[in-house]
Amino acid sequence: MAQPWSPSSWRGRPIRQVPEYPDPAALVAVETRLKTYPPLVFAGEARNLTAGLADVAEGKAFLLQGGDCAESFAEFHPDNIRDTFRVLLQMSVVLTYAGALPVVKLGRIAGQFAKPRSADTETQNGVTLPSYRGDNINGIEFDEVSRAPDPARLMQAYMQSAATLNLLRAFASGGYADLHNVHRWTLGFIAGSPAGERYRALAGRITETLEFMEACGITPESTPQLRATDFYTSHEALLLGYEQAMTRIDSTSGDWYDTSAHLVWIGDRTRNLDGAHVEFCRGIKNPIGLKCGPSLPEDELLKLIAALNPENKAGRLTLICRFGSDKIADKLPRLIRAVKREGAKVVWSCDPMHGNTVSTQSGFKTRPFERILKEVKAFFDVHRAEGTHAGGVHFEMTGQNVTECLGGAQAISEEDLASRYQTHCDPRLNANQALELAFLMAESLRTERMKDARFAASA
Ligand code: PEP
Ligand code: CO
Repeated sequence: MAQPWSPSSWRGRPIRQVPEYPDPAALVAVETRLKTYPPLVFAGEARNLTAGLADVAEGKAFLLQGGDCAESFAEFHPDNIRDTFRVLLQMSVVLTYAGALPVVKLGRIAGQFAKPRSADTETQNGVTLPSYRGDNINGIEFDEVSRAPDPARLMQAYMQSAATLNLLRAFASGGYADLHNVHRWTLGFIAGSPAGERYRALAGRITETLEFMEACGITPESTPQLRATDFYTSHEALLLGYEQAMTRIDSTSGDWYDTSAHLVWIGDRTRNLDGAHVEFCRGIKNPIGLKCGPSLPEDELLKLIAALNPENKAGRLTLICRFGSDKIADKLPRLIRAVKREGAKVVWSCDPMHGNTVSTQSGFKTRPFERILKEVKAFFDVHRAEGTHAGGVHFEMTGQNVTECLGGAQAISEEDLASRYQTHCDPRLNANQALELAFLMAESLRTERMKDARFAASA
C-alpha cells in the first residue's frame, strides 16, 4: 500500500537543492499568500495534455518541448515570448509534416525559473557567496544582497508566469498561430539560411500541401484548427514550497493538481526515490516528466516508474533522456529494454542539451550543435532498433539570435560566443539553430514513417 500523500508530505523527506532563506517567516508569509492566488492552469487542460501524451506513448503523436534553460526577470519582454512561441510553432509544422503525426507543443516557459546547481556556493576572487539558483530565488549578480534568497521574488515569478501564459494563450487562439503565417516565416528563414538549399524541398512540399488544401476549401477561415493551436507549459518542479502553494483540489475530479503548469518534471539531481521531489510529484495528477541521466540504473528507473505511475496510465510519465552524445548508445537501450519487459507505458523523449555541455578556453559554457544533433539521431536509431517510438525532444532554445551554442549553419565559432551570450544558466539554441534541428530531425522522422508504411503494407 502506498503511504498517504498530501501536498505537504514532501516536507518529511530528505530534500536536495534547497535555498537557505535568511528569513523563513517571510517565506511562509509569501507561500500563504500564493495559496490564495488564482491557479495558472486549469486541471482540465492538464488532462488534455495527458491525453495528448498518451497518443505519444502509443506512437500516434510526437512531443516537442522547448524554451529557456532559465527564464529571467531581465529578459521578460513580449518580443521574447513571441519569438520563442513562433520558433516552436515553426518547428512543429516541419515535424508534423515530416512525421505525419500531430505534435504536442510544450514550452519550458511561464514558470521555468528555479535551477539546480552543482555547488551550493560560488567563489570569485576569494569571495564566497550562495550560488545563483534562478530569478525566483536570488539574483545572478555576484554580491551579497543579490545572492541572498528573497521570498518576494516568488511573487514576481508568479506574476511573470501569469502574464507570459496570458500572452501565449492569446497567440495560440487569436490568429497568430495561423498555419499559413507560420509557414511563411519558415520560408523567410530558408531564404536567409546558408543551408537553405537542404531544407527547400521539404518546405516546398508543405507549400504545395497548403495550396492544395486551400483549393479544396480548407482554409483558416473555414477550418479553425488551421488558425489556432494547443500550447502547454512546463517547468522543473524544484522549489517545492512554491509548487505546494499552487497545488489545489480540482472540483470536477476531486484530484490534486499542481496548477503552476500543465506538466512539471523532476530533474536529474533530485530524482532520488525516497526524496522530497518524487514524493511531491507522485501525488499530483498532472503529467510528469522525469529526467534520466547516465547515472540512472535500470532497476532504479523501474522503481521510480512504479512510484510515479502506479496505475500505468499512458501519458502520465515522460522519460526525458539526457545522456550525452557519447553515452546514449550504451545507456538508452538498457532502459528501453527494462521498461519494455515491465510493460510500462511511457513517453520517450530526448534532451540532447544537458549531456553535451562543454567549457571553452575562454570560460564559456557551450554546446556544439554537432553533438546535439548526434544525440538526437542516436535516439531515433536506438528506438528504431528496439522497435519503440522515439516520442519526442526537449530543447533549451530561444527565439532570439543569441550566440550560445557552437556551430549550425551560421557556424558560430568560439570567438563569436561573446557577442550575444545572454543566458542566465545553460547555453540555448538560437532561433535558426532550433529550426535547423527540426529540419534535420524531419529526415529521421520520415524514415520512421516510411518504415511504418512498409509494415502496414506488408501486414
Ligand atoms: C534542466 O533541464 O535545465 C536541467 C537542469 O536538467 P537536468 O536535471 O537534466 O540536469
Ligand atoms: Co539547463
